[in-house]
Amino acid sequence: MNKGWTKSDWRAKPRIQMPDYPDQTALTAVEGQLAAYPPLVFAGEARRLKAQLADVAAGKAFLLQGGDCAEAFAQFRADNIRDTFRVMLQMAVVLTYGAKVPVVKVGRMAGQFAKPRSAPTEVVGGQELPSYRGDIINGFDFTAEARVPDPKRMLQAYTQAAATLNLLRAFSTGGFADIHRVHSWTLGFAEHDKAERYREVSNRIADALDFMTAAGVNADTAHTLSSVEFYTSHEALLLEYEEALCRVDSISGNPVAGSGHMIWIGDRTRQPDGAHVEFCRGGINPIGLKCGPSTTAEDLKVLMAKLNPENEAGRLTLIARFGAGNVGDHLPRLIKAVQEEGANVVWSCDPMHGNTIKSASGYKTRPFDNVLAEVKDFFAIHRAEGTVPGGVHFEMTGQDVTECTGGLRAVTDEDLSDRYHTACDPRLNASQSLELAFLVSEELSAQREAMRRVAL
Ligand code: PEP
Ligand code: CO
Repeated sequence: MNKGWTKSDWRAKPRIQMPDYPDQTALTAVEGQLAAYPPLVFAGEARRLKAQLADVAAGKAFLLQGGDCAEAFAQFRADNIRDTFRVMLQMAVVLTYGAKVPVVKVGRMAGQFAKPRSAPTEVVGGQELPSYRGDIINGFDFTAEARVPDPKRMLQAYTQAAATLNLLRAFSTGGFADIHRVHSWTLGFAEHDKAERYREVSNRIADALDFMTAAGVNADTAHTLSSVEFYTSHEALLLEYEEALCRVDSISGNPVAGSGHMIWIGDRTRQPDGAHVEFCRGGINPIGLKCGPSTTAEDLKVLMAKLNPENEAGRLTLIARFGAGNVGDHLPRLIKAVQEEGANVVWSCDPMHGNTIKSASGYKTRPFDNVLAEVKDFFAIHRAEGTVPGGVHFEMTGQDVTECTGGLRAVTDEDLSDRYHTACDPRLNASQSLELAFLVSEELSAQREAMRRVAL
């Protein structure tokens, strides 16, 4: 695949949304160091995720992708990682219950550090400084010094990603994720009615497990039930970092991104002839492509041909992010483009990035009802088109933050300042995430029912 491609070809293409490092010598030194370090993920894992995403494309599995908008050095703690992992497990249980298919779990974790920005500078109190571009590039503090891009930050990001992955691998197989502990994953929901629904689902799962034990079917499945597979993903934005971690798959001899299992191309950097598309097309990893309202059918066709020339199932996930009320204007025309090409894709819904607004109190936020509305439209359109709604992509955290308004434990505009901790975009908190999982689960049950009726 992609014969003749090399990991530095992107350097000859137009680069946008990346820093101009003032100290090129320091940059080269860091790149050399990272290139000598072990990869964070391995080719066999990326291939395995791709195979599972092929099942998603065929409607035989469902994709749950979620995590921080931007991971931050200052918020790097085991508890934060554990809580997000736990909420994703809970969501996956709820989704599996509705969809009756396996849920492929992919964190926006262990590498989600670089951020595209809508403006190169920001002005606060009359002072203009370069925008914050994520901890892997520059500092959040509003000082001229902090905002200078520093290549050494890539080394800290690598270290944090490695330690995060280490913990995720331990949680995935070390007993924490054992389905028999489904009751103990509750966290902070105890006092409201979503907790009750979660408990109901947990009880049914526990009953099913008891039945399986009684029937003696446990022996073969013990490992499957006591561990989960959990993958990592991030936007491949900072290409110096990506190139330095690119490796060769020893089995196939093909290049593989060693920075995360799945990488995606953002809505601002998906130019068919740009640097990001050039880099991402080269490796064997599954790739995500954000599709916003400005995605044209023509561009999408060119991008699908570049990113998945062999039309391999599971290779390409189109992540639709149009905003509530806009899905009907864009999703059908892009589904048509996919069908015209006979392209094999996973359709996923990101109901976050088209729904960001500025609240009256001045905080960037996302109204929960708009997030819900976009998800519902996504499912309704796929049902009408007879295509597969393969997954969801959320910005979320296991912490009890107040960043998105609404939800059962209604976060109001005035509440936003209480626990607004995101380094970038507003995230769903644990309770809002679980609430959304129940909604998606209901949509998936309805989908199954509709498909069953068609089959009859
Ligand atoms: C993101 O996922 O954090 C992001 C910036 O998304 P998009 O490229 O869709 O705007
Ligand atoms: Co974001």
